[in-house]
Amino acid sequence: VEQLKERLFEIHSIAGRFYYDVLQSEEGADARSYIEGRKLQAAVSRKFGLGYAPERRNALMEHLKEKGYAINDMLQSGLVIENKDKNGYHDRFRGRLMFPIFDFQGRVVGFGGRIIGKGEPKYLNSPETILFSKSRNLYGLNFAKAERKKELILVEGYMDMISLYQGGFRNVVASLGTAFNQEHARTLKKFAEDIILLYDSDEAGTNAALRAIPVLCTNGFRVRVMQVPNGKDPDEFIKQNGALEFSKLLVNAVHYISFEIACIQKKYNLDNPEHRVRFATEAADILSKLDNAIERNVYAGEVCRMTGVEEAAIRSEIDKRVQKEE
Ligand code: UTP
Ligand code: MN
Ligand code: MN
Ligand code: MN
Ligand code: MN
Repeated sequence: VEQLKERLFEIHSIAGRFYYDVLQSEEGADARSYIEGRKLQAAVSRKFGLGYAPERRNALMEHLKEKGYAINDMLQSGLVIENKDKNGYHDRFRGRLMFPIFDFQGRVVGFGGRIIGKGEPKYLNSPETILFSKSRNLYGLNFAKAERKKELILVEGYMDMISLYQGGFRNVVASLGTAFNQEHARTLKKFAEDIILLYDSDEAGTNAALRAIPVLCTNGFRVRVMQVPNGKDPDEFIKQNGALEFSKLLVNAVHYISFEIACIQKKYNLDNPEHRVRFATEAADILSKLDNAIERNVYAGEVCRMTGVEEAAIRSEIDKRVQKEE
């Protein structure tokens, strides 16, 4: 198994080099203009090893064959797959901009391929293999850990991570659209104490952030949350507004409790007394989960200001819930 693993590392390294070279060749012209259109600097594209997978059906497969690799190793790598009618094999990635996925030591263990024209899926990723597990890998950790910051920014996508890096924010990792889970948290725990959760500000991203918060909290991280305005993602924001505007948002990242309260507030119309009751009650549920009594008090104050409910009332509801749990 160890020898197979070694060969799979080699295959990924060769594939990364292959896609990288194709990107610089005539075949890579459209992908190069796509990269330019997304305002990625050449140096950054190089740093992240971006490449292009040719349209040809067997380009990588033939290349690996030339290098002496057996079809079974190629299949195990996930980069070559069997034809539908089982009469041969072909490359998994074709006609896509390629993002090598690194492990925390910087070895290529998989790829994400983005379509550059129209089509589905937008991103195709390596399958689970001996080298690559989606629920463990955090994209960019090999770069972020070199910064030795106690604080990490957690984003959704390849382009978010890379754009922030280009903008000078280098303590960034991406969970690549998969739900943030216990294994992710345990991996990050070795490198960070504080997490700034920065998912897309659309509905999917907001819901994913709400689900990530308890996972981060149970693993002992201090968690703050930020979102860029208008349903956008960090990549779009920093391209449009620049690094300075981004850093202004960053310093205003809020305690996760404020974020949770702001999220539930959107369900209610606070001009309506019944809604105020339901909102304040739901907020009391959330606040009662805070261990720190001072924190409970500070954020209870926020709810009072939002609803006009007296602090004593909210505090007594919170205390009831805290006692129940104890
Ligand atoms: P998004 O849909 O927000 O993509 O998904 P994005 O990163 O902003 O992509 P661009 O900017 O249009 O290039 C967030 C992440 O979810 C994963 C990818 O890792 C993506 O970066 N994803 C998304 C997939 O794996 N497959 C998909 O089809 C879409
Ligand atoms: Mn060749
Ligand atoms: Mn999205
Ligand atoms: Mn995007
Ligand atoms: Mn996005």
